[in-house]
Amino acid sequence: MKTIIANWKMNVGVRESVALARGTLLTLRGRKHIPELVILPPFVALSEVRKVVARSGAILGAQNVFWEDAGAYTGEISARMLQEVGVTHVLIGHSERRQVLHETDEMINKKILHVFELGLKPILCVGETAQVHQAGKSKDVVAQQLKAAFSSAHLRPSDRLSIAYEPVWAIGTGQSATVSEIVEMHVFIRSLTQEILGERVLSQIRVLYGGSVDGENAYRFLREKEVDGVLVGGASVKINQFKDIVQAACEVLEAQSV
Ligand code: PGA
Repeated sequence: MKTIIANWKMNVGVRESVALARGTLLTLRGRKHIPELVILPPFVALSEVRKVVARSGAILGAQNVFWEDAGAYTGEISARMLQEVGVTHVLIGHSERRQVLHETDEMINKKILHVFELGLKPILCVGETAQVHQAGKSKDVVAQQLKAAFSSAHLRPSDRLSIAYEPVWAIGTGQSATVSEIVEMHVFIRSLTQEILGERVLSQIRVLYGGSVDGENAYRFLREKEVDGVLVGGASVKINQFKDIVQAACEVLEAQSV
């Protein structure tokens, strides 16, 4: 199976989200082998997008979450509130939240633990900055992010987890990581996560790549067996681009089925 996650970020309002959700679903129409599709609209559009994707097989996710159930946390959204509007997947630790909103590893860890507790599926983002990449220290940084995010976490057999390798320098820049960099990092992420969370976890995790994925390059990433899917930002709000990414995933699945 291959997964495509559409991270719409803060790029679309409610009406645009509804139209985009319809367009996104159309990209799957008439296909024999379809990828798993996870849509992450802005919070305010979740309820409306839920109506559009109902019974389509597409999955509804949120771009962020808070780690407490309820209380005096002005402006925050709890996991229970997300569940109320049909959300099953939650993006945690996106680099824009780490960098712009100063989210720390400790906060990310609290979110991961809380989301697991409620039975939601986290999509954890990890990835190094350009400076770290140039210094050849990418794995050190990703290792530290994984260890911190999963501190005190114990997965139950029913838990599912996605980890998105998203190098900060590749996000929104048009400059994606190379296939060999991605494959090497995915192998590393899998083995380290297994070390941290235990042997059994391999069947419960999926490792995805994100960072300037578009209609042109998606096939090259998706055809790698180490790449379970892609996390798409900019190209997920451009239907023509997104259609090509879906097409790439379908071709890979088709090829695998013969
Ligand atoms: P991008 O964003 O596809 O625009 O590079 C990816 C992401 O931020 O998740």
